[in-house]
Formats: sequence, C-alpha cells, structure tokens
Amino acid sequence: MQRNIQLLAFATMFVTTTSLVNAADLTKAYDMPDASKMIEKDLLAKPTKFTMPKGCVKDDAASIARGEFIFHNLNGKKAKGTPPEGLVKFVEKKGKDGKVKKKAKQYGNCVACHNIEGAKGGGNIGPDLTNYKKTFIDSKVRDNAFVFQKIADPRIDNPKTHMTVNLTTKLFTEQEICDLASYVVSDKSKK
Ligand code: HEC
Repeated sequence: MQRNIQLLAFATMFVTTTSLVNAADLTKAYDMPDASKMIEKDLLAKPTKFTMPKGCVKDDAASIARGEFIFHNLNGKKAKGTPPEGLVKFVEKKGKDGKVKKKAKQYGNCVACHNIEGAKGGGNIGPDLTNYKKTFIDSKVRDNAFVFQKIADPRIDNPKTHMTVNLTTKLFTEQEICDLASYVVSDKSKK
C-alpha cells in the first residue's frame, strides 16, 4: 500500500512537470523577427523601364558639371573640390528615434567601377567610359535614352548586371540621372 502511494505521487509529479514544460510557449522565450518582412525590405523593387524626360540629356555646362561631380565622388561629406551650383549636398532622413536628420547626400562613385576622362583610380568592373561620345553616341551604337535607362535601372539592359540601380531605388532623382547621362555623353576631348 505504502509503495502504491509512493508510485502514485511520483506519477502525478511526472505528469504535472511534463505538462508544465509543454505548456510553456517557447516562441516567447526568444526574439523571432518576421523573416519574410526582413527579406521584403532588403529586396530591390523589380526592374523598371523609364521614359527619358524631355530636355534631359543636354550640352549644358552646369548639368555636365553636376554629373561629373556625382560620377567622381562618393558622398557630400567626403566630396573633393567645390560642389557645383545646384548640386544637392544633404538629404533629410528620418532616424530610428523618428527625428529628421540632415545626412550627406550619397553620390554615384561611378569611378569605383568605371574609368573615364580624369578618373583617379577608375575601376574596371564596368566598361571604360572614356571617349564615350565618339565611340558609342556618334557611331549610333547607343543613344541618350539608353544611357539614361542604364543609369536609372541597368537591369533592363542586363538582368544580371553588377551595376547599381539608381532611379528605381530613389538613390538619385530624375534630374541627377539626367546630369550623369549628360556628363557621360559629353565631349571631353577638348578639356
Ligand atoms: C558596381 C559596379 C558599377 C557601378 C558602381 C557603376 N557601374 Fe555602370 N556599369 C557596370 C557594368 C558591369 C556595366 C556593363 C553592363 C552591365 O553589366 O550592366 C556598366 C555599364 C554602364 C554603362 C553602359 C555602357 C555601354 O555599354 O554603353 C553606363 C553609361 C554606365 N555603366 C554608367 C554608370 C554611371 C553613371 C554610374 C554611377 C552612377 C555607374 N555606371 C556605376 C558597373 C557599374
């Protein structure tokens, strides 16, 4: 009899403990961020075809100067030389605390991948853009609209491109892409 009571007590204890452990909601024990939401945030918007606005690419010294500056620099803080007139140097961004802060504008740093006239340490991941006007525009291999789209969203031309996506991501405004395109296709042979 004594032994039976002992067994019963033991069995009750066992059942209670196991059900307690099982009942505990382990999902609350540690952080489980919604992975699908995180991926969504990091994914690029799908390749987008843009229409080049009227008067976008032009033989205008001010536009070309802005394009040149964006092409050769990484951001507004570290930018070398005097930024040309009309160039955006700072952007306003909402921080984690909800406060709007001024941040140095991120420029193109296109020289990281491309060589071009006057490039310092031009990269070779992308094609050399030296003599672009003569080689590609005057020969009609490319046109301004191609250059605009290439900079805006290079994935339309090459879905597997390693080039940065600039307009779809809103890294640059349409005007900045026009300035960059104006610079790329400009005649730099007389400089
Ligand atoms: C991470 C490297 C990388 C960066 C940064 C980059 N590009 Fe490119 N670019 C490429 C590659 C690679 C190609 C070749 C085509 C392709 O794969 O998309 C290319 C192609 C181009 C072309 C087309 C050349 C042709 O075939 O006529 C232009 C114009 C161009 N880039 C301009 C720019 C400009 C302007 C910037 C800066 C906003 C820039 N690229 C930044 C890698 C880069």
